[in-house]
Amino acid sequence: MTTGPAVRRLSAWDAELLRGLAAEYDTPLYVLDPERVRENAARLRAAFDAEEISYAVKANTTRPVLATLRATGVGAECASAGEVERALAAGFAGEDVRYTAVNPPERDLNYVTDVAADHDLVVTVGAADALDRLDERDFDGRLCIRANPGVGAGHHEKVATGAAPKFGVPMGRVPDLAAEAVDRGFQLVGLHAHAGSGISGEDLEAHRELVARMGELARSVIADVSSLGFVNVGGGIGVPYRADEDPLDLDAVATATRDAFGDVDARLGIEPGRYFVADAGVLLTQVNTVKPTPETTVAGVDAGMTTLVRPAMYGSYHAVRSLAGDADERETVPTTVAGPICETADVLCEDRPLSDPERGDLLAVGNAGAYGYEMSSNYNSRPRPAVVAIEGEGGRLAVRREAVADITGLETWSE
Ligand SMILES: Cc1ncc(COP(=O)(O)O)c(C=O)c1O
Repeated sequence: MTTGPAVRRLSAWDAELLRGLAAEYDTPLYVLDPERVRENAARLRAAFDAEEISYAVKANTTRPVLATLRATGVGAECASAGEVERALAAGFAGEDVRYTAVNPPERDLNYVTDVAADHDLVVTVGAADALDRLDERDFDGRLCIRANPGVGAGHHEKVATGAAPKFGVPMGRVPDLAAEAVDRGFQLVGLHAHAGSGISGEDLEAHRELVARMGELARSVIADVSSLGFVNVGGGIGVPYRADEDPLDLDAVATATRDAFGDVDARLGIEPGRYFVADAGVLLTQVNTVKPTPETTVAGVDAGMTTLVRPAMYGSYHAVRSLAGDADERETVPTTVAGPICETADVLCEDRPLSDPERGDLLAVGNAGAYGYEMSSNYNSRPRPAVVAIEGEGGRLAVRREAVADITGLETWSE
């Protein structure tokens, strides 16, 4: 299996192919490249050769991604009943599925414990009273405890989950909870923690600290309470979003992770999401209006914060490239690419040097494969875009474009 280059930049996407897909499927359009997903999986496997790897499906749950990753042999880490349902529908074996219950709604727990009776999935709990909730549902499947490691990291404070009280059982209370779980007859098989999402080279120290703490915790649980099948130290492996950012050295991350974990009698596991899919996707959007202003040129496009929320929500940088046939011959001007939503936050980039935009131009937005379509919404009654996967010389529709009727079809009030 080819591992491909360490990073795929927006400039490496075939402009003609993307223009053809936009012409056939309209815009805004998410384009996914399953081959790149496979390459990313192969690179992870090469670095973490002995470790258990799961895909955090929240990054992208579309079928081409799930089917591609299932075929590579990774497991599925799911954050909701819906994600479990979709992972199973895509062919993941129950035994390879973990449900990480963050304050799980009753409906989720009902579904997951029902499914667990037939499929041997792992339920990860992050609060002591979750044991009561599982007991009430006669859950006798495999259990994992999520620890709050007291150390967080990530590309933005909103996704640095590690130390936030919302997540996991405080580290110091885990051994007692583990003992209680075993006393009550639960099959304790693992421990889990997650520092946060989008960990860069600078955050590696925090990651190492988390892994070291988990290693220590696991040794104490194994010595005093129960053997463990695995210790999962979460996802969060970052990818470069800017053209001048270097990719992480995966081998170095893997070695640091292993070294920090040390000698523990349980399999080390990771569960990245973004790394598998970020650079395997682009968002295509059309320029519908161009407005020169004293400060900047505003290119009004048909994708906005409802299509890709990361710039508005986290101030995230996404590369933008003009796919106009003569883009290279045009002057470069500071451009603000703005969506159709009535919010100041609804810009994909501000004052970015881009080829002077014209109405009808097609723009590509890079690294849109992770947390792109997945976080899209219907705000302003905007139908969500279509998703197409590259197949051969063309594309295959994976998710059809929503119509307003899909949104209004949920309404029950009429008069
Ligand atoms: C528990 C857990 N695991 C894994 C991930 C995946 O993170 P990333 O996509 O940055 O690898 C997340 C992301 O929020 C998460 O909450």
